[in-house]
Amino acid sequence: MSSTENSQDVAARKKRTAKVRLFIYCAAGMAGLLFGLDQGVIAGALPFISKEWGLDSLTQEWVVSSMMLGAATGALAASFLAKEIGRRKSLLFGAAVFICGCFMSGLAPNVTVLIAARLALGISIGVASYTAPLYLAEMAEKNSRGKVISGYQLMVTVGILAAFISDTFFSYTGSWRTMLTIICIPGFILFGTVLMLPDSPQWFATKGRFEEAKAVLEKLHETNEAAAAELADIKDTLKVKQAGWSLFKVNKNVRRAVFLGIMLQAMQQLTGINVIMYYAPKIFGLAGFSTTEEQMIATVLVGSVNVLATFIAIGMVDRAGRKPALKIGFTVMALSMAAVAVCMGMLQAGSAPSWVPYVAAGMTMMMIAGFAMSAGPVVWMLCSEIQPLKSREFGIACSTMTNWITCAIVGATFLSLIDTLGSANTFWVYAGLNAFFIVLTVAFIPETKGVSLEDIEKNLMSGKKLRNIGC
Ligand code: BGC
Repeated sequence: MSSTENSQDVAARKKRTAKVRLFIYCAAGMAGLLFGLDQGVIAGALPFISKEWGLDSLTQEWVVSSMMLGAATGALAASFLAKEIGRRKSLLFGAAVFICGCFMSGLAPNVTVLIAARLALGISIGVASYTAPLYLAEMAEKNSRGKVISGYQLMVTVGILAAFISDTFFSYTGSWRTMLTIICIPGFILFGTVLMLPDSPQWFATKGRFEEAKAVLEKLHETNEAAAAELADIKDTLKVKQAGWSLFKVNKNVRRAVFLGIMLQAMQQLTGINVIMYYAPKIFGLAGFSTTEEQMIATVLVGSVNVLATFIAIGMVDRAGRKPALKIGFTVMALSMAAVAVCMGMLQAGSAPSWVPYVAAGMTMMMIAGFAMSAGPVVWMLCSEIQPLKSREFGIACSTMTNWITCAIVGATFLSLIDTLGSANTFWVYAGLNAFFIVLTVAFIPETKGVSLEDIEKNLMSGKKLRNIGC
C-alpha cells in the first residue's frame, strides 16, 4: 500500500472513530436530560395537582419525595443491573421505566397512583444517573473524559431548564397532565438511540467476553495497537480476585475509594444547590418581581445561568483540571451564600435599603453559576473515575445513593431550618459548609485530568494518598 493510501486510511479511521464517539456521547447524554426534566417538572405541576385534588402538605411532600426515594432505590438496583446485564441494557431498562412512569403519572386517577408513578420515575432516574456517567467514563478517551461527563451534566441542566419552560407554558392552561406526560418524548429518543450503542469494553471484559471488548475498542481507537494496549490494561485490572462488597470488606484501598465517592456526593448536595434552585423564585419575589411574567423570566434566568455556567466547566476540567474547578466553585458558592445571608439578615431586621433584594437575587444567580462550573459536573465525573473496575458498580451505587439521600435530607430540613434558625442563619450554615469543602478538596480530592482509569486504579491500589491517586 502506498503511503498516501495509508495516510488516507488513517484519516478515514480517525473521522470514523470521532463520529462513533460523538454518537455515543450524545445518546448516553440523553439520560442526563431525563434526569433534569424529572427533577424540574414537578415544581410547576404540583400547585395544579394540589388544587384539583385538595392535597394537604404531607401528601404534597410525598408526591415530591417519592421520586427521591425511588431514585435511591434505582441507584442500588442499577449496580446489580449494570453488572449483570450490562450498561447498555440498564440504560434501556431506565428509559422504558421512564416512559411508563410518564404515562402513569399523566393518566393517574388519584394521588396513590401518582405517588406510585413518581416512585417508578425515580427508579428510572436512579438507574440513569448511575449508569450514564459510568458508561461515559468507560467509553471516553482519557483526555476528554472530563468534557464528556460535563456534557452529560449539561444535559441535566438543559432538562431542568426545559421543564421550567414547559411548566410555565402549560401553567397558562393549568394542564398538569400534559406537563407530566410530554416529557416521555426524550425517553423514547433515549430508548431508540441506546438500542444502537455497544456495551462498554470494561463490562465485556469483566464477563470474559474479550473478543467483543476488542471489537468495541477498535471502534473507539484510531489504531488497533492503541485498542490492544487498552485491552491489556483492562485485563490487568481484572487480576484482583474478589469483587464488590466482598472486596470492600477485605480491601482497605477499595474502602477508601468508596468513602471518597460518598464524601463527594454528600458535599455536592450540602452546597445547598437544590435549596437555591427551589428557593430562587421566593428570593426573586422579595426583589419585587411578582407578576407571572416576571416570575417566569426569573425562573428561566435561573435555569439558563445553570446551563451557561456548565460551559465553563466543559472548557476547564480537561485543561486546568478538576481540582481548580472545585476550589473556585466552592469559593464562589461560599461567598455568594454569605452575601445572601447578609441580605436576608437586613431584610429580616426590616432595615434593608431598596437595593438589597436585587443583590440577593444577583447572588443567588452567582451561587448557581459557582455550582454549575464545579461541583455539578465534577462530582459525577470523579465518582465514575475513582472506583476500581472490580468494585466499580458497588462504589458508584454507594455514591449515587448518597446523592439522592442527601438531596432528600436537604430538601426535608430546609423549611425547619428556616423556622428554627431564621433565613439569614440558614444561609450562613450553607456558606460555612461551602468554605469547609474548600479544605476537604485540598486535603482529599485527587486530580484525575488526563489519567487513564487503569492508572488511577493502580495508584489507588498501591496505597497512595487519595489526593495523589491521579498523579
Ligand atoms: C445535581 C442535582 C442538581 C443539578 C442542578 C446535579 O448535578 O446532582 O441535585 O439539581 O445538578 O443542575
